[in-house]
Formats: sequence, C-alpha cells, structure tokens
Amino acid sequence: MRPRMLARAGVLAASVVTVDACADRPSKHWDWERMRAQPRYESYGASAYFADGMAMRAPPSGTVPRQVQMAASESLAVTAPPAAMLARGATRFHIFCAVCHGERADGVSIVAHNMDAPKPPSLLTPRARGFPPGQVVAIITLGLGRMPSYAAELSAKDRWAVVAYLRDLQHRESNAPADSTPTAPQ
Ligand code: HEC
Repeated sequence: MRPRMLARAGVLAASVVTVDACADRPSKHWDWERMRAQPRYESYGASAYFADGMAMRAPPSGTVPRQVQMAASESLAVTAPPAAMLARGATRFHIFCAVCHGERADGVSIVAHNMDAPKPPSLLTPRARGFPPGQVVAIITLGLGRMPSYAAELSAKDRWAVVAYLRDLQHRESNAPADSTPTAPQ
C-alpha cells in the first residue's frame, strides 16, 4: 500500500473504533424528558406558595450588590496588611502589573516606552497615591482605557493583595517623581 492509502486505512480503522465506543454509552437510558418538564417558576410569575403571591423573592434585607460593596469598601484603609498578603501582592504585582507600570511602579517599562499614549502611567504620582484602595481594586477588576481587566487572572483576594503591596510600595518610594514621563529602562 502507498503511504497515502495507509493513512486513509488508519483513519477508517480509528473511526470504526470510535463509533463502537459510542455505542456503549447509556444515553438512551437518560431521563431527559423529566428534566425538561420539571415544574419551575417564570420570572415575574405568580406563586401560591409565597404569602405575597409572587414567584420572585426580594433579597434579604442588608444585601448589597457586589459592585456597591466594592465602592463601600473604599473606606477600608489598608493600614497594616499581614506580611503574607504583602508577599502575595508582590508576586502578583511583578507578574501582572510590572510589565507595563514598571518593577518599581514608576511607569518605566519596555511596554510603556513602546506604547502610544496614553501610556501606562507611574503609580507613584500624588494622583495615583490618592486613589482609595477600592478604586484601584475597581481599576484592576474592570480595566481602565487601554488597560485590560485582570479579573480573570487575579481573584478578588489577590486584587486586594496587589493593592496592599502597591500602597506599601508607594509609601516606601519617597523620591517618587511628581509626574510620569516613562522612559526605557537602562
Ligand atoms: C498592558 C499594560 C498594563 C498592565 C499589565 C497594567 N496596566 Fe494599569 N494602566 C495601563 C494603562 C495604559 C493605563 C492608563 C489608562 C488610561 O488612562 O487610559 C493604566 C492605568 C492604571 C491606573 C490608573 C493610574 C492613574 O493615574 O490614572 C492604575 C491604578 C493601574 N493602572 C493599576 C494597575 C495594576 C495594579 C495592574 C496590575 C494588576 C496594572 N495596572 C496592569 C496599562 C496597564
């Protein structure tokens, strides 16, 4: 047999095996109909079960949407975060933020150097220092302008850890430039 024919025979043999394997599946025994037909309420529908006659329930009192909770937590100043949180924040910052904002958060990075404006700014400016922690968490979560969201890469806990580390870094960098004019690292 020529190589091409051999390959075809191989594919055919493989598909026969696959079909055979599928035939063993117990799908015909699955009770799809009972799953499709199970009783459920429609949104805004009526309910004889609840005293107010409505199927939809009001959230328990005191419940707040996650976004609102995030804004409210702006008042939670990160004063003395535990060392483990700072250490975690440091690794996350160096993995996810430093590439654009620089290892020292001063806006000096290869990416910033090569990017068109608006470039990733220094995070050591009075402006960036003035952001409440919740605002920085929101920027990481939602992104800002050309900065993408890092919600998929950083859990909520990690975002707070990054902010705690950044706040610590801002305190330590006493000689921060007043404004950001990113240049290429030496
Ligand atoms: C891909 C590059 C990039 C990465 C990575 C990145 N940023 Fe940004 N960031 C930017 C850009 C660009 C801006 C400016 C956005 C604008 O103003 O349009 C910005 C703005 C900000 C600002 C607002 C600063 C100000 O003065 O307005 C904060 C705070 C910030 N980033 C924090 C972070 C943190 C924390 C991380 C890591 C989780 C991060 N960024 C990762 C590109 C990046």
